[in-house]
Amino acid sequence: MAFPVHRPRRLRGSENIRRMVRETRLSVDQLIQPFFVIYGRDVANPVASMPGVYQFSVDRLIPQVKETWELGIPAVLLFGVPEHKDPVGSGAYEREGIIQRAVKAIKDAVPEILVITDVCLCEYTDHGHCGVVSETGEVLNDPTLELLAREALSHVEAGADIVAPSDMMDGRVGAIRRALDGEGYTHIPILSYAVKYASAFYGPFRDAAESAPRFGDRRAYQMDPCNVREAVKEAQLDLEEGADMLMVKPALPYLDVIRVIRDTFPQVPLAAYNVSGEYSLIKAGARLGWIDEERVMMETLLAIRRAGADIVITYFARDVAPLLGS
Ligand code: PBG
Repeated sequence: MAFPVHRPRRLRGSENIRRMVRETRLSVDQLIQPFFVIYGRDVANPVASMPGVYQFSVDRLIPQVKETWELGIPAVLLFGVPEHKDPVGSGAYEREGIIQRAVKAIKDAVPEILVITDVCLCEYTDHGHCGVVSETGEVLNDPTLELLAREALSHVEAGADIVAPSDMMDGRVGAIRRALDGEGYTHIPILSYAVKYASAFYGPFRDAAESAPRFGDRRAYQMDPCNVREAVKEAQLDLEEGADMLMVKPALPYLDVIRVIRDTFPQVPLAAYNVSGEYSLIKAGARLGWIDEERVMMETLLAIRRAGADIVITYFARDVAPLLGS
């Protein structure tokens, strides 16, 4: 008898057989493309630490969103860079704020694409924290909730299809749900950044969104990277408060957390955010000629799917979409 008897290699011999037995797939249907919107006209500022990513003014954003839709990507996630910042982040909930204008313009030009808005104050506050700050520099939870609820409501009034709170205040999903329901927006889903770690991988994003904290860091409200049981608690609370979809963020350094959340809460769609630092590291390695960008991108996005994410939020969405089969 020939040895060995068991030969897994039999199923690896050609691309065609590999294609047939593949367990994990990435489809364009599962992608969300983030965009940064800035005030002004005819602006396309490249973000130095994120090659291929720009801050677009509304007029320049529209053709980008059109192209995204034509690639088959179902949704965009919007971040705003306002003209003025203040201690309470007023720009976040103004009727004519940057996000509100961008949402309206997208809904006029490309009505089919899902517009998801990031709900947070850090891009709009002069101190760069995600909530209201006390005299002693503490980020105050409960006073922030009302502002986040106003922000989410103003995004929905402008036409947002889904709101995605990313601030990590306790109780914000419930506060937003109540505010939306109170105005008759019971049909608008909440995609909660339920499990969001205090991560150094957000560095390039803070250049793009101009949202780095002026003092301190976000460790008093974002999660400690050492914790995974706490992730279950965060996800559970957000579901109790009315979250329709959950998110884990970042993705690649937290694949184990994605798997735990996927298995613990099989009843809800799970998104993972392949964040700015994960993107920039691949771009940088490719620029140095040290890695094959396309293959590393694909392997990374597949790893996030294999860990259990249904949806992947990624700056690579438009790069990867043309490479995917149906
Ligand atoms: C806003 C927010 C951040 C990201 C998404 N929403 C930054 C932060 O928490 O500091 C990071 C996304 C990325 O790095 O791509 N709070």
